[in-house]
Amino acid sequence: MSVLSGCKKLYSLKSIYPTIQVGVWRGLSTQEIIAREDRCGAHNYHPLPVALTRAKGVFMWDAEGKKYYDFLSAYSAVNQGHCHPRIIGALKEQAEILTLTSRAFYNNVLGELEEYATNLFGYDKMLAMNTGVEGGETAIKLARKWGYKVKKIEQNKAKVVFAKNNFWGRTLAAVSSSTDPTAYGDYGPFMPGFSLVTYSDLAALEEELKDPNTCAFMVEPIQGEAGVVLPDDGYLKGVRALCDKYNVLWIADEVQTGLCRTGKMLACDWENVRPDILVLGKALSGGVMPVSAVFANDEVMLTIRPGEHGSTYGGNPLACKVALASLKVLIDENLAEKADRMGTLLRKELNTLPSSVVKTVRGRGLLNAIVIDEKYDAMKVCLDLKERGLLAKPTHGDTIRLAPPLVISEAEIMECSAIIRDSVLSLIK
Ligand SMILES: Cc1ncc(COP(=O)(O)O)c(C=O)c1O
Repeated sequence: MSVLSGCKKLYSLKSIYPTIQVGVWRGLSTQEIIAREDRCGAHNYHPLPVALTRAKGVFMWDAEGKKYYDFLSAYSAVNQGHCHPRIIGALKEQAEILTLTSRAFYNNVLGELEEYATNLFGYDKMLAMNTGVEGGETAIKLARKWGYKVKKIEQNKAKVVFAKNNFWGRTLAAVSSSTDPTAYGDYGPFMPGFSLVTYSDLAALEEELKDPNTCAFMVEPIQGEAGVVLPDDGYLKGVRALCDKYNVLWIADEVQTGLCRTGKMLACDWENVRPDILVLGKALSGGVMPVSAVFANDEVMLTIRPGEHGSTYGGNPLACKVALASLKVLIDENLAEKADRMGTLLRKELNTLPSSVVKTVRGRGLLNAIVIDEKYDAMKVCLDLKERGLLAKPTHGDTIRLAPPLVISEAEIMECSAIIRDSVLSLIK
């Protein structure tokens, strides 16, 4: 039985790992790994044809041992660099002691993370979940509860406003607020009580917030999946002021922008504003396991009472120790300041690329994108970059996100800029 010949219910080790031959393990090739996933896995992603088997810091290696710079960081989850020793150390240590209790009982680690993180971010309370999208769901549930209990909105009339081109995950609520047909197509009927406004348009937002049934506005401080789209300067301050004026909660989705990615601990820090509800995920575990968290003050957080929300794995001791280590690494290694400096250098280099190919360079810190002229194919550019040893992925058609782990050095930024330059120049030679 070959590994390539079928995914049937055959549980013998030999059927699953046919390349084990009397103690010899050669490992699968890239082609074999891809073929097996294609055959046995759902086709819900469109990966670059590279099969990774190992990673450390800013580097990843494929099945044949070829080394690559990681310029995606697992969609900004690996801010601290792959397999950071302090984070892996915390994982290993806690894994021997206590991994999961469920919230049916207390554990000695959840409170340690809650205390540390609420002090760090300046909120009364934290609610631990697993994935980013669960963080968003939690924030919206909190906002609706608050709408009924505190703002006194009539039952089932609460409205949540989102920015067009948002991306916050794949649940039915998330796709109900999406303006991308690939995300929402054929998944209806959709969640009621959602409405959309143009990103970075305060006048349009004000019209929505005037509705007394509006309980929240949820927005990314920089739209990541939309192609690293920055709002106008002053937008976040304007959002804060409008939400205050109309007694509406501001939910900041910092799942991608938070945790030093944009050159500050939070992207909202660039305008010195504080959302009512803050959602974090991804780099909260440094790419080690799914950990997300929602922060709010008591007036909001305590509207959810015992039994009204939860998750079996949310707040598990293993995840909490990993999150604690991940936050401490960000601070101890000055990764916000580093992302700011390295991002400035990267954009300076990218801005010297020929404008006949690269139409726009934008970003903040190490969350950056280049927009390629429409006569070129961004996916093809990424395939060429892969051949040259740098892994990046298009976000939308013509846009390539460039977001390496924040531990990248100046010399490495210069080397990667040269790789990108060679790739771009090869298009016009
Ligand atoms: C801004 C933002 N919010 C939420 C999510 C969802 O996170 P997850 O994939 O962990 O559910 C993402 C994922 O890319 C994101 O970019």
